[in-house]
Amino acid sequence: MAVPVLIDTDMGIDDAVAACLAMTSDRLDVRALVAVGGNVPSSQAVENIGRLLGAIRPPVPPPIGQGLDQTATGLMDRTALFGRDGFGECDLAPARKIRPANFREVYKKAIDDAGGELVILALAPLTNIAALLDESPDLLRAARHIYISGGAVWTQGNATPAAEFNMRRDPAAAARVFASGLPITVAPLDVSGLVALDESHVAHLAASGYRTGEVLARLLRFVLEQDTEPAYGKCHVHDALTAGSLLWPDLFLKTRMRLDVVADGPQSGRTKPALGGDASRRIDLLTAVNAVDFLGNLLESLCHEAFVV
Ligand code: RIB
Ligand code: CA
Repeated sequence: MAVPVLIDTDMGIDDAVAACLAMTSDRLDVRALVAVGGNVPSSQAVENIGRLLGAIRPPVPPPIGQGLDQTATGLMDRTALFGRDGFGECDLAPARKIRPANFREVYKKAIDDAGGELVILALAPLTNIAALLDESPDLLRAARHIYISGGAVWTQGNATPAAEFNMRRDPAAAARVFASGLPITVAPLDVSGLVALDESHVAHLAASGYRTGEVLARLLRFVLEQDTEPAYGKCHVHDALTAGSLLWPDLFLKTRMRLDVVADGPQSGRTKPALGGDASRRIDLLTAVNAVDFLGNLLESLCHEAFVV
């Protein structure tokens, strides 16, 4: 039976890879895509979700939810990496007639319909999830597990030297979610930074003959041409690795510990390992990945055929 999944996303380019991986997997059943501010404002993330669904045309497009934006001033976004629209400024057709539902209703329906089996892929700042924790804590406790893309524990951040982007953009939300006692797995930069796509992978996607491969190749080529994280001609796929840790857990090593989040100041968003203390607040933290097999699985899943690394 396919695992029911809700994807909470700021729909940048690595989010798109993760969403396509989830929607093309016969082992996952994507019940909803919920937008949140981050890479781009949540309204643009809704538009990007619509553009992606319009381009890959899944048999049954999942419902779209509109979530929250972060309201602090001076926040970073990821338009330098992903383009002004967060989607590579490429010629994907505009979304058609999207009427996103309020994220609270989308979460409630997805959790209720899944009967305790819903897995949440949180691929963005944790603003929506923290709001639900505050407003309806019992609702999230009825979900099976939350996989979170983000954090930088023993490695340098990508938003600041101390902090990873999703945590930096809403550190208070991250602190509340990590301290909630919910069943959580965190995929930090320490692991997702070990995997990058290059032109050989993108050429394989482009030539796959599958819409997902062709669309993702167009998005990814924008990143390959930016001389930013991690390097010219390389593209991290943080969010796809997070989805991969749900699909292929045997490719990862993990440990259990608490993660404390620095709430403000120059190190705001830093995720600090906390050993000992309240065991109920420990989360599963990914610590290593078999990068070769992950990349092979990712490309095979997206192109429905083996990729020779
Ligand atoms: O730091 C990487 C994370 O921040 C990814 O989720 C990316 O999409 C951005 O949201
Ligand atoms: Ca993201």
